[in-house]
Amino acid sequence: MSRVRVAPSLLACDLARVADEVRSVEAAGADLLHFDVMDGHFVPNLTFGPGLCAAVRQITKLPLDVHLMVSNADELLEPFAQAGANRIAVHAEAVVHLNRTLDHVRALGVTPGVALNPGTPVGVLDEVWPLVGFILVMSVNPGFGGQHFIPGVLDKLARLGPERDRRAPAVELVVDGGVEAANAAVLRRLGVDILVAGTAVFGDSDRGRALAALRGEETR
Ligand code: DX5
Ligand code: ZN
Repeated sequence: MSRVRVAPSLLACDLARVADEVRSVEAAGADLLHFDVMDGHFVPNLTFGPGLCAAVRQITKLPLDVHLMVSNADELLEPFAQAGANRIAVHAEAVVHLNRTLDHVRALGVTPGVALNPGTPVGVLDEVWPLVGFILVMSVNPGFGGQHFIPGVLDKLARLGPERDRRAPAVELVVDGGVEAANAAVLRRLGVDILVAGTAVFGDSDRGRALAALRGEETR
């Protein structure tokens, strides 16, 4: 089993010091940078657009993992690709022509992902396994950082892991929302490839310690 990767979510960083925050997690060994885009419509909150993404692109080599929580994802694919996104997840609940949208992301040279809300069944993936690079399983209802992990999502992951192994072993499983050291062990055992963590990383002044705890590594 390969080492789980960790994607700190900038939603939880000190935005007044965003450059320092990005550099701190990169120096501490983060694997990706998760970028939560909210439109005040698909979710109740508003966050960042392609402008901040492009600015962050200038100061880090980390892959930028863009999570679009928006109603009009199709209109934002090109702007985020131009802003330097390496990966873009769209919500199955928000996109009407999922096949077309995923193809569009890939044509832009970006790895496409599908995000699923906690209440969305995994069956919506049935026809798109060959098109995706990753599945972003939400373990909170999207819109805010710092929420509690919804335990029922573990059952969903327990079904999704074997299905992924059978149908598309190269597709990465990503979990997002309320991830912390206390639940990371079970997520790793369930075959999750990437843990998105906002509060658990940026809420700890020692980012190296936070990343190690999520990976289940010893710290000195
Ligand atoms: C929720 C976002 C998550 C969230 C993660 O809508 O998609 O990425 O900010 O933050 P924590 O780890 O604090 O739940
Ligand atoms: Zn997210």
